[in-house]
Amino acid sequence: MNELVFPNINIENLTKWEGDFSPLECIEIKDETHNVKSFTFKSKLDAWFQFLPGQHTTLFLNINGSEVMRTYTIASSPTRPNTITITNKRMNDGVVTNWMHESLKVGDCIDALDIGGSFSVALDKPRTKILLMSGGSGITPMLSMARYCIDLSLNVDLIFLHHAQSSKDLIAKDELEYYQLHKSNFQRHFICDVADSDWQGLSGFLNHEMLIELVPDFVDREIYCCGPEPYMINAKKILESNDFDMSSYHQESFDIESSTAQKNMAINHELPKHEVPPEEINEYNVTLSKSGKVIPCGSNTSILVSIQKQGITVPFACAQGLCGTCRTKMLQGTVEMDAQGGLLKSHEKEGYILTCCSYPTTDVILEL
Ligand code: FES
Repeated sequence: MNELVFPNINIENLTKWEGDFSPLECIEIKDETHNVKSFTFKSKLDAWFQFLPGQHTTLFLNINGSEVMRTYTIASSPTRPNTITITNKRMNDGVVTNWMHESLKVGDCIDALDIGGSFSVALDKPRTKILLMSGGSGITPMLSMARYCIDLSLNVDLIFLHHAQSSKDLIAKDELEYYQLHKSNFQRHFICDVADSDWQGLSGFLNHEMLIELVPDFVDREIYCCGPEPYMINAKKILESNDFDMSSYHQESFDIESSTAQKNMAINHELPKHEVPPEEINEYNVTLSKSGKVIPCGSNTSILVSIQKQGITVPFACAQGLCGTCRTKMLQGTVEMDAQGGLLKSHEKEGYILTCCSYPTTDVILEL
């Protein structure tokens, strides 16, 4: 008979997971809806995961001989640190999600880079009333934040407003219903685009009347919003027209899974250029300290592109300053950085830059 071995749960005695030095083993695959699955991973070295609710990680996969990276929000909560769960939706042209849905099996191992991102209740000083708004698979950071608040019994009044295409597309419905039944400080509301025969709730595009009906005190809440672009534009418009204090509004500024840059993520993908008047363009040297390579880089070209032009492969995913995958320590020099939320302030203070959106203003030395 196999003997059960219970691991040491004193986290201080465990190793912290630090990216691709420790592969991830898929330990559970669960159907969430007809086209959404949750994949749970643990570290092969039994390390624990340190992250904030709402952050994401970048998977590094070899699919049919091609190396690809995709960034996914972690849907699980850091209060359950021995595993991470990625919940994603199969998409017509989703190379990675389709591969995960069709080919990834329990017991398989994959690599992932670091964890990053700055969309998190744990980074802000939110009001004690919080509204989580999500559309479609934008629900994943909200699930992480809701699970975190509930596990820690935080003294917050939480409303979870989720919009799905139809009742068959409601992700984690039972879990959210459970919280509504058992937690006095939690309410969930679902809206479906299409009201099918077994849907009794609200349907259609979110509008002001619906928001007032479901969340009468929304103006008093800290609001976190994630979903497809039209969903977020609409939500923002409703809030602005109600004089909502937008400093209490936070959104995940891109749909990670459908990011154009990620779809076109060939290693030598041509990335956007930084506009600098021609007379102000200067040429600088970027030194990679580990190999001693010195790379020329114009002040109108991102450091990532300049490195790639030399045929050197370095990690990146969104190429828009959003995901944090290209984070690198700058040992010397200065850059102009167009980060779009992919770098924590604390990392910036420690000297990290995002190479995909950093443009040299002096010679630069990188810890690469
Ligand atoms: S690749 Fe995503 S922030 Fe640079």
